[in-house]
Amino acid sequence: MTNPIEAVRLADPYPGYAALVAERPFAFDPAVSAWVAADAAAVRAVLGSAALQVRPVAEPVPAGIVGTPAGEVFGDLVRMTDGDLQQRLKGVVVEALGNADPEYAARLAAEQTRACLSRGGEVPFEELMFAVPARVVAALCGLDADGSAEAAGLIGEFVQCIPALATPEQQGAAALAAARLRKLLGPGIEHAEAAGNGLLAALVRAARDASWTRTAPLLANAVGFLSQTYDATAGLIGNTLLALAREETPKTSAEREAFVREVARHDAPIQNTRRFATEPFRHGAAEVAPGDQVLVLFAAANRDPAVNPDPHAFRPGREAPVVFTFGAAAHRCPGESLAVAIAGAVVGTLLDSRFDPARLLSGPAEVTYRQLVNARIPVL
Ligand code: HEM
Repeated sequence: MTNPIEAVRLADPYPGYAALVAERPFAFDPAVSAWVAADAAAVRAVLGSAALQVRPVAEPVPAGIVGTPAGEVFGDLVRMTDGDLQQRLKGVVVEALGNADPEYAARLAAEQTRACLSRGGEVPFEELMFAVPARVVAALCGLDADGSAEAAGLIGEFVQCIPALATPEQQGAAALAAARLRKLLGPGIEHAEAAGNGLLAALVRAARDASWTRTAPLLANAVGFLSQTYDATAGLIGNTLLALAREETPKTSAEREAFVREVARHDAPIQNTRRFATEPFRHGAAEVAPGDQVLVLFAAANRDPAVNPDPHAFRPGREAPVVFTFGAAAHRCPGESLAVAIAGAVVGTLLDSRFDPARLLSGPAEVTYRQLVNARIPVL
């Protein structure tokens, strides 16, 4: 049986996921010390349950960063908290991101991509996958070119504190990065009126409309815009490039968007997430006890034939696809449109530069993936 954590970086994890969907849709897996939700019904039930939360009760913030700027940011992220306060702040975050213009983000991403390619030489895949999306979101937050470039570098350091197995060195670097990111983004929150119509101004406006007065959580979630973008959008760009090497190239921008969206379903850049039971949770005959962990396999559920007919076929423009890659319910991702727009623009600009994706698969070696436990990001 496939280990669902190791699956994230297998060349082809999908037969293993399909076996889980068919045979063990919701079951305890001692190999990962967690319940594993694999089919669409289980994933929906887990994400929709208030008994299951995003952090262990005993450790709302990873112990190694408590009391540091990284811990302060982490503890205020809507992604990492639950409850009524989270839902109020989530409303503010959703409202702010709803103001972002995906077409404008796409133009920025295309400009950034052209600037990277104009330097000539090898295609800088890492920069296109990680730095360009982060710079675009930093620019949407009102940072200038230098500030955006610095923020893109720093967010790479900050996200290192998120995995459970982060080392003390990574946690230390994340703390420094968080402190500097707050300095970079702080003025945009404090002087939001002057900042005009950027993402931070929208965040402050949405907070005011919701009678939300504390600014520290707003600043933390501005850092969150960057951290949520970082690995996930890199994976979406990388997996789209690999799909382009295998599938027919989309021609129009509408076809390109449909292509990117089908990649998000078919080869999810975020393959799983975790939940922690605070109260008993039942699904079918299974009983999850308080303290138990649940691993939620988005990538398996996306290919559940119960929700997506012929789920293993790559078919852009599917009618009403069911896609779990951006989560569901209380923690659903509010950045989907931005992510799809940015990824589409980076990939489209690369294609327009006459880059031939087929060359990514032309060598004898199998594609390898970064050593991560939930993001599927190819090393190109
Ligand atoms: C391909 C790119 C992306 C993917 C696959 C993705 C996926 C996800 C997923 C799965 C979650 C929920 C995690 C959970 O329930 O455990 C999430 C949450 C979130 N995402 Fe995204 N995301 C992407 C890009 C972005 C971007 C570009 C932004 C903003 C600029 C963003 C902002 C957020 C925020 C603020 C949350 C927290 C929501 C909450 O917990 O209530 N995401 N994302």
